[in-house]
Amino acid sequence: MTLGSQNLTRLDQLFYSMRDANACFLGYPFAKDFNYEPLWRFLKFTGNNLGDPFEPGTYRVNSHAFECEVVEFFAQLFRAPDDGFWGYITNGGTEGNIYGLYLGRELYPDGVAYFSRDSHYSVSKAARLLRLEHAVVDSQSHGEINYDDLARKASNERNRPALIVANIGTTMKEGRDDTSKIRAVLRDVGVRESYVHADAALCGPYAPFLNPKPSFDFEDGADSVTISGHKFLGAPMPCGVVLARKSNVRRVMRAIDYIGSLDTTLSGSRNAYSPIVLWYAIRCLGIAGIKRMFDQCEQLAAYTADELNDRGVDAWRNPHALTVVLPPVEEGVKAKWQIATQDVSHVVVTPGTTKQQLDALIEAIANSGR
Ligand SMILES: Cc1ncc(COP(=O)(O)O)c(C=O)c1O
Repeated sequence: MTLGSQNLTRLDQLFYSMRDANACFLGYPFAKDFNYEPLWRFLKFTGNNLGDPFEPGTYRVNSHAFECEVVEFFAQLFRAPDDGFWGYITNGGTEGNIYGLYLGRELYPDGVAYFSRDSHYSVSKAARLLRLEHAVVDSQSHGEINYDDLARKASNERNRPALIVANIGTTMKEGRDDTSKIRAVLRDVGVRESYVHADAALCGPYAPFLNPKPSFDFEDGADSVTISGHKFLGAPMPCGVVLARKSNVRRVMRAIDYIGSLDTTLSGSRNAYSPIVLWYAIRCLGIAGIKRMFDQCEQLAAYTADELNDRGVDAWRNPHALTVVLPPVEEGVKAKWQIATQDVSHVVVTPGTTKQQLDALIEAIANSGR
């Protein structure tokens, strides 16, 4: 394949435009600092992880072995039952949320889904896709679900199973729902059967190390947990991990002759490169590296909130959050720094975010009309 000079120029222009945009985004929770150059050689293959990563299959140009290691790493981190978990590498948090609710619906076809107003839009999309009757629960001002409203809504349907999506880091405020409290609320109002899916898109890799540890993992009552790989850990393409109880996955499993494997995943053909990227990240970092990266980010997040407060901007963050919440920023600031904005704006201090970038943003916000 060769490219004509005109198209080569266009390709160069695209590269420079992505490079420049990459240097000034602060409003999305994507890591900026990674180097996967040793993995570029894998781009020569039509890698495809189709089928169940834990099962042999006919097509062998895959990275299943590494995918399983990544899944096992997170299973341990999220205190999954030793022989009772299963998981795979997804295209991102959205797929993980759809998968979690899918397993929940297959377990309880007449269940009602509950999730808070602050949930990522992929959650209501999953509920619509799966044709799940659902109730949107109020949130507290810091983003965590309102347990009283959950109790009210679940009590109205106490004779039906509940399918809950708990946010372990809401999209805008990094508010964290408590899966143990959710379980207790459901019990108290008389809901006898429930499935809890934890959406830990951003916080998953560091939540186990926070003190106090958020209540979100398998031992805390979750039946499935998902994270995004490109958020805290960092990846050049969207990816994620979903973990679930094996007994629930068996319910959706089908043997497929065409692939000589089991069909347990949402997508058929799946990225073989992202498991290698995530494997490389966790092996390079280890637990100590993840903790170190989190500490650096948290210090910068605290600095950002303090500096904005000093300049009269009402910025705040949840305990141990990397997300600094602030009043909606002015259009020019939003466009230049790619600041996600709804009723509030936010800055997310991810690995690779520099003090220089944050200082430039702080000045821009302080000097803007707001
Ligand atoms: C809490 C939460 N869940 C899910 C998602 C969706 O993740 P992805 O973009 O990886 O599909 C996001 C994305 O921002 C999120 O913040």
